[in-house]
Amino acid sequence: MSNISEEINKRRTFAIISHPDAGKTTLTEKFLLYGGAINLAGSVKGKATARHAVSDWMEIEKERGISVTSSVLEFEYGGYHINILDTPGHQDFSEDTYRTLMAADSAVMVIDASKGVEAQTRKLFKVCGMRGIPIFTFINKLDRDANDTFELLDDIEKELGIATCPVNWPIGCGKSFKGVYDRQKREVITYSDTEKGTKEGETSVYSIDDDTGVINAITKEKYDILTEEIELLDGASAEYDLDRVRDGKLTPVFFGSALTNFGVEVFLQYFLKMTTTPLARKSGDELIDPVGHDFSAFVFKIQANMNKAHRDRIAFMRICSGKFEASREVKHVQGGKTMRLSQPQQIMADSRKILDEAYAGDIIGVFDPGIFSIGDTVCAPGEDIVYEGIPTFAPEHFARVRQVDTMKRKQFVKGIEQIAKEGAIQIFQEFNTGLEEIIVGVVGVLQFDVLKYRLENEYNVDIRLEPLPYEHIRWIGNKDIDPDKITGTSDMKKIKDLKDRPLLLFINAWSVGMVLERNPGLELLEFGTQ
Ligand code: G4P
Repeated sequence: MSNISEEINKRRTFAIISHPDAGKTTLTEKFLLYGGAINLAGSVKGKATARHAVSDWMEIEKERGISVTSSVLEFEYGGYHINILDTPGHQDFSEDTYRTLMAADSAVMVIDASKGVEAQTRKLFKVCGMRGIPIFTFINKLDRDANDTFELLDDIEKELGIATCPVNWPIGCGKSFKGVYDRQKREVITYSDTEKGTKEGETSVYSIDDDTGVINAITKEKYDILTEEIELLDGASAEYDLDRVRDGKLTPVFFGSALTNFGVEVFLQYFLKMTTTPLARKSGDELIDPVGHDFSAFVFKIQANMNKAHRDRIAFMRICSGKFEASREVKHVQGGKTMRLSQPQQIMADSRKILDEAYAGDIIGVFDPGIFSIGDTVCAPGEDIVYEGIPTFAPEHFARVRQVDTMKRKQFVKGIEQIAKEGAIQIFQEFNTGLEEIIVGVVGVLQFDVLKYRLENEYNVDIRLEPLPYEHIRWIGNKDIDPDKITGTSDMKKIKDLKDRPLLLFINAWSVGMVLERNPGLELLEFGTQ
């Protein structure tokens, strides 16, 4: 047991989130560099190639030059076992990002120092907020001209509604970015030029009390500004409070430059110390202890076609408690079956390693013959753990979809159902007819392209998509309601999901309110469950 608890307690599983271009990929890569998972030479040609190597599983990604899928990066550093959940960069795949966040215990939010909080940061932050997980902020690109440091903090507090607590403080920015001040250790850390991270730089550390040393290192002018700012900061910023951080109420803030490596390793070290070990999760009213409980895990992502040669489907599971052993039988709760997980593997970038064992906090990929759905639980036989479902995000774009060749109906239905099971699309039917008409809903329009591409390439089915004007979908909360009795608006359309549950589509947001008004007692929900 002690071995299991030791293993679990050294795990740190987190996601890195950011608005595109804030530096998520670069920062991730630097973490890998410190963890020895890649070397400096690897990172030089780095970002562009890494981006492809890590997640170019689908042709469409190459064609569009965007990252559609996400991956898991795993490495050891300073006695910790780290799992980074990488998330797709493109906003049309934000749903995937949301799901990935469900598997993380904390999040690192990367912000561009010259931009502050951006649209996508706001969205992602909201989801982290829903889970109440700790959020750590890395303000990046200090090697460029940056916004005023106090204003950046203000922006985070006002825009995101979370208190900030700077753990370190930047000394200058742009060409005169010298390094950071560590508030806890009261030390100035300076860096030498790394030529954009292509060569190893030198780090020097001075106590702030060694004024001569500090002045020599950063100039008198910078020293004066720094001491003034520290004084201001000590008076004004929130006290560091680990409990508030862990409740997601306070975000520790770090400054640096992922590109030039300034402040990155210090950040990693503090972050690992401050963030949590694998969190307990709820099954019904019970909180399942990661260390004390036998094996359990849930599926947060299903990815088809990761390996073109094999046309396989991988279900990604987050282990929530105990130890996973490949030789043991587990129970797939939703399927009601006891089974052995097939080819359990650790998936890093495009390489895979078959695993014999893994622990709470780890992510494993298992071969899925088409039995798993997002949110499913597996656990020790004899148990009935059901982890809280992963919310389905409301699609905002809808299209009617038909196969071009009517003879291929079977492949078409199979393909579209499988893709829906992976959570990339949601499928619905006309309310009063059978499967003849399929309506597809997606969160981002690019998913339509992915659907078309995958049906053509994996199922050999050509489809025609006819866009529908609806933008708002509502699930009906009331259990016993006759959908035929709902008084609608002229822009409302009734549809049903594959479990025959009625849903409503609207063109205009205001119609939702109108329908609520016309049907007292009706409950319309923005999120559904699968
Ligand atoms: P993302 O994953 O959040 O989308 O961002 P990514 O790391 O891809 O970084 C976006 C751009 O910002 C890249 O430039 C990257 O080199 C640059 N960048 C990241 N961190 C820093 C930093 O600390 N300082 C500076 N100055 N730039 C940074 P690019 O021109 O798009 O790519 P590339 O040509 O450099 O490969």
